[in-house]
Amino acid sequence: MDWGEIAQHRLDDIARCSLDGPGVTRFPFTPEHTDALEVIRAWMERAGLSPHLDAAGTLVGRSTGSGPAVLIGSHQDSVRNAGRYDGIMGIALACLALEKLRSEGVSIGVPIEVLAFADEEGVRFPTALLGPRALAGTVDRDVLAMTDQDGASLGASLDAFGGNSNALETLARKRDDVRCYLELHIEQGPVLETANMPVGVVTGICGIERNRVTFYGETGHAGTVPMQGRADALVAAADFISHVHDTARADPDIRATIGTCAVSPGVANGIPDKTELTFEVRAPDDGARQAFAAKMDLAAKTFAGERGGHHVFENTYHQPAVPCAEDIIDRLSEAVMATGLDPVTLPSGATHDASAMADLCDIGMLFVRCRDGVSHRPEEFASVQDMGMAIDVLAHALSSFQA
Ligand code: HGY
Ligand code: MN
Ligand code: MN
Repeated sequence: MDWGEIAQHRLDDIARCSLDGPGVTRFPFTPEHTDALEVIRAWMERAGLSPHLDAAGTLVGRSTGSGPAVLIGSHQDSVRNAGRYDGIMGIALACLALEKLRSEGVSIGVPIEVLAFADEEGVRFPTALLGPRALAGTVDRDVLAMTDQDGASLGASLDAFGGNSNALETLARKRDDVRCYLELHIEQGPVLETANMPVGVVTGICGIERNRVTFYGETGHAGTVPMQGRADALVAAADFISHVHDTARADPDIRATIGTCAVSPGVANGIPDKTELTFEVRAPDDGARQAFAAKMDLAAKTFAGERGGHHVFENTYHQPAVPCAEDIIDRLSEAVMATGLDPVTLPSGATHDASAMADLCDIGMLFVRCRDGVSHRPEEFASVQDMGMAIDVLAHALSSFQA
């Protein structure tokens, strides 16, 4: 049985559950998500799990047995025009590791739950991780009022999908009921490919913050207002964007990205009087991240003033950095060695559902090599061989848990 080939077949199959266009586009609480649930439900049943949809829109597949459970999960959603692996591969390979153990007659000493979280990317709504935060009991109910670009709220979309925004608090797990949370994920970076390793054990997940930076100036006729004395909000923003990029390049631990830029009035013959940017910062150390963001806020003030305008800097989202548990790192490393490989450890620059699950229990992650380190693009790729190795490692790690 080539479990890696089965994995690829299943990922090709579920990639159909997508909006039209290049790659995969599957946002939470959409018809594409509904279609994907039916596919994942079948994966879970093949793995001997009993699936149900919880109030947060997470499809939960639970094995029999009582006592503290090992939770394994990832996210079903994607960014726009994504690849076939980010998130969904972790769900598919978790089910296949369980299916492999069943086929070999190997029983696991603890209950297992596979979790297909609805929304990790935070693309449709300006928030994310509702599913793991519900399990961890850390949901901020204010996020339910956040809306997508069509004005649909997260809460109403969740309820229409079959969740229950009024019952989120009932999902909070007791620490004693959970052994740990594991997540298998494509690396989304070049480290394993450079090390020529199929899998790697994650040491920790970076912290992240997102800020809305708005530059204000003065609009006017593009043809009649002299260049001297203009308060052009887009020019101030351009100074800021270059400064963020160049300053972050000098610090190996900082990842800073300005991913969106909205210009008003947004006409060819009007001087911009407002430019709104999303400014994201990530780092393994929360203090370094916050210091960098504060420095950039001051810089924005300078650039705005030099161009005759002003700015507003608002934090809109943050997730602290989280370490993986040492004993889970050891357990995954032993499983890697049991498959005949030398364990490689690495930090995660991407955030994951595990970032939120760390508020509930110990977490561990296993990365799968990512071709050219490319992700969040249709070209994203993990090989059948590497997925097969990851299934072997996960199966070995799961069989090592005893009540
Ligand atoms: O942004 C991230 O790191 C994740 O892919 N949502
Ligand atoms: Mn992603
Ligand atoms: Mn992901």
